[in-house]
Amino acid sequence: MELSQNNNGFPCETLSRIINSLKSPSMVCEGTHFDGQIPHTFVIFGASGDLAKKKIYPTLWWLFRDNLLPKPTKFCGYARSKLSIKELKEKCHHHMKVQPDEEVKYKEFWELNNYVSGSYDGLRGFELLNNQMEIMENKCKANRIFYLALPPSVFQEVTVNLKQICMSKKGWNRVIIEKPFGRDDASSSQLSDHLASLFSESQIYRIDHYLGKEMVQNLMTIRFGNKILSSTWNRENIASVFITFKEPFGTQGRGGYFDEFGIIRDVMQNHLLQILSLVAMEKPVSCHPNDIRDEKVKVLKSIEALTLNDIVLGQYIGNPNGEGDVKSGYLDDITVSNDSTTPTYALSVLHINNERWEGVPFILRCGKALNERKTEVRIQYHDVPGDIFEGNSKRNELVIRVQPGEALYLKMMTKSPGITFDIEETEMDLTYEQRYKDSYLPDAYERLILDVFCGSQMHFVRSDELHEAWRIFTPILHEIEKQRIKPIPYLYGSRGPKEADRKCEENNFKYYGSYKWHGKH
Ligand code: NDP
Ligand code: BG6
Repeated sequence: MELSQNNNGFPCETLSRIINSLKSPSMVCEGTHFDGQIPHTFVIFGASGDLAKKKIYPTLWWLFRDNLLPKPTKFCGYARSKLSIKELKEKCHHHMKVQPDEEVKYKEFWELNNYVSGSYDGLRGFELLNNQMEIMENKCKANRIFYLALPPSVFQEVTVNLKQICMSKKGWNRVIIEKPFGRDDASSSQLSDHLASLFSESQIYRIDHYLGKEMVQNLMTIRFGNKILSSTWNRENIASVFITFKEPFGTQGRGGYFDEFGIIRDVMQNHLLQILSLVAMEKPVSCHPNDIRDEKVKVLKSIEALTLNDIVLGQYIGNPNGEGDVKSGYLDDITVSNDSTTPTYALSVLHINNERWEGVPFILRCGKALNERKTEVRIQYHDVPGDIFEGNSKRNELVIRVQPGEALYLKMMTKSPGITFDIEETEMDLTYEQRYKDSYLPDAYERLILDVFCGSQMHFVRSDELHEAWRIFTPILHEIEKQRIKPIPYLYGSRGPKEADRKCEENNFKYYGSYKWHGKH
């Protein structure tokens, strides 16, 4: 599959080849494809912040370490804090996972880094940044990438200043934007209009990091590369689709941000809906990013806006029998107000009104402070009609486990081995750790940042997708806030509110409790 677009004259390899070469980077990238190209400058706005420290600098280091970046690429941080490169390095160090034999390369990486301190609203800092970039680029033609790891409050002024002062005159410019992309349809449209007044859509890379995960990227192949699955992927065969995100920890000091957004905006409206659109969309005409995104938009357009009837909300409370954090509930977080009704758990049932999916509930569920870490897609097939096994046959389920431990397994019935005609549940199992032992699965951010260098927008969110996502969720979000609907309390470390299981049962998801997994995690 040709994944790269190779537009703008950037001589990139197909992404699949690049990623495959990660184990032995010298095979593909060292000194061959990227050498002698025009300089690239990667600017990190909000360089002193949490995301920069935990994700962006580590990702840039890993891409540099594996020789996946064009040469020369240099990096420049920008933030209000006055920081030296040494201080920045210390801040990031814990997350960089440097191996003892990588010290020389690691030193080289930091030598390519600069940092400019300046405000977000004045022009002076941006002028200093532009001067710094010109020095780093030897005043040559250069391509520039700007990563906005910033709070939404400074977003508008930064993009205006950026456009006015920091654009490369001869090379290309690309802007990477992190969620939240607004908090409802109106604010998101305002943001989209603002960005559209400054940049073309092809310059804007809206990150949803779930689109960079191995099994999310695999959904297209699973669906459209397997006749056996593609012909059963419809309402005739599938009873319900269940897409789950669970985390075993609470807001962990992020309560201030979280309380303003809640779990629906934080996870469901973006990460889970993106997965849903890849599971439910029609086959695109080709693997071209716009063909894929056209299909994603089409399926989103077929989804009715949610109502209060379609949703269960929860908020975690401390578990007095637990230890450490588990004892504290959401409202114990000092950054959260005592009477907050912000949900930390949500389950919603979406209906897709088209020929393939009418009548098939798509259940999205996400929650914090639950019993485990897990993201998966569970496709549950109908009961076998005309049963001859006295009701002992259980529904087939195809499970695509995104994390932890990528796996694809099909739960099915088999005859119990031996002198018996009993039947039992078993599975066909593709566990990545066993089947692809020697494969290196890059982090989502590695793939996505590399995509930006390559100019591939396949795994980024287009403005019309965003518009549809907000159309589906805005009415219910407004209603929840207007009515101050009280979420159902659930214990930290539990599976969430019981009401959610009931909602699943009502929506054609059957849980038997009889399946036994004999393998190892
Ligand atoms: P199960 O039948 O055990 O669970 C199916 C679903 O029901 C899950 O979504 C589960 O989790 C949910 N559930 C659990 N308890 C209840 C309840 N009381 N009421 C309603 N729903 C419930 O099958 P699984 O597919 O989850 O497999 C069991 C274990 O085997 C898992 O840990 C799985 O990872 C492992 N396994 C691993 C494989 C691999 O690594 N390749 C292959 C096959 C199985 P939830 O709590 O999220 O609702
Ligand atoms: C982020 C959310 O987008 O995704 C967080 O804001 C969440 O609340 C995180 O914890 C989960 O990402 P991952 O990759 O760890 O599953």
